[in-house]
Amino acid sequence: MRAAIVGTGMLGGAVAIRLLQRGHDVSVYNRTPAGADAAVAAGARRAGTPADAARGSDVVLVAVRDAAAVRDVAFGESGIAAGAGGAVVADLSTISPAESREVTARLAGLGVRRIDAPVMGGPDAAAEGRLVVMASGDMGAIDVCEPLLADVSTRVFRLGGPGDACAIKLAMNMQITMLALGLAEGINLVDRSGLDPGLFLEVLNSTYFATGMSRGKAYRMAGGGQDPTFTLANLSKDIETMLRAGREAGAAMPTTASAAGTYAGAVGAGLGGLDYTGIIRHVSGGRLPRGPPGDRAARETSK
Ligand SMILES: NC(=O)c1ccc[n+]([C@@H]2O[C@H](COP(=O)([O-])OP(=O)(O)OC[C@H]3O[C@@H](n4cnc5c(N)ncnc54)[C@H](OP(=O)(O)O)[C@@H]3O)[C@@H](O)[C@H]2O)c1
Repeated sequence: MRAAIVGTGMLGGAVAIRLLQRGHDVSVYNRTPAGADAAVAAGARRAGTPADAARGSDVVLVAVRDAAAVRDVAFGESGIAAGAGGAVVADLSTISPAESREVTARLAGLGVRRIDAPVMGGPDAAAEGRLVVMASGDMGAIDVCEPLLADVSTRVFRLGGPGDACAIKLAMNMQITMLALGLAEGINLVDRSGLDPGLFLEVLNSTYFATGMSRGKAYRMAGGGQDPTFTLANLSKDIETMLRAGREAGAAMPTTASAAGTYAGAVGAGLGGLDYTGIIRHVSGGRLPRGPPGDRAARETSK
């Protein structure tokens, strides 16, 4: 198929390269041109505007920061709508249900069909075709996008009408928010108690309460952090989006509101560019991470 990717950040860049590897024709646009270099080096056509990227494509995949960015790339004389023709817009960006409905209606007024296609999984999952896609909107438009979405994912859920998948995506990121905080505070408590966080993780991971995060990223949280695949700043943005969606739906979310303050504090402290699991630096006052968990002898000497 002919695919355009608008927004080749961590997620969109990996999606573009995966689609090239699957044999699709790919054009890319990124606001900051250097952000598209890796996809261009892998064989994508560089477009100068979102309209240029969209022109001649079957599907325009959008992966930008937030709803304001979606509006910036969708509308105006060089926006996607100006070049889309009959192409369908599949929006992977994490935005609220109300924002989705607004953008979908505005695009429909310009004759362009848009679906929600937020995803679970980051650039590594995209590169290996392991995303999980939550699609909603016009079912015929989802049919058009499905072959492309299937090439980056293990499953494409169909979840309802415009905006519906966004509510589920935000509920999913709420789990990420709480899991990362629970692990960060748990690791910090164990560390401050003079114990090895590796012991805590060993116990946790032998119980019903183990998760993919406690088996994987938790060890890197305790032991030196990792290169970002999803930034703390973007998760903080998503938590604000959850709170807006909660207000719109009449759903009380006191724990999310509390977490919002913690993550915003971390961004304010200059940690926004870290992987979201870097929240441990904030909750531990910079004491963690400081070395591989599980190595008690090394930790004794570092105390
Ligand atoms: N990374 C993940 O694991 C992951 C997983 C699921 C969903 N998501 C969601 O996918 C979206 C992209 O995430 P990401 O991780 O790829 O973020 P990222 O690496 O921070 O990239 C953000 C992208 O948005 C673009 N952008 C921001 N503001 C813009 C504007 N006003 N106009 C045009 N472009 C703008 C950026 O362009 P510049 O390069 O010019 O700044 C960049 O291409 C976000 O909504 C995120 O929440 C991410």
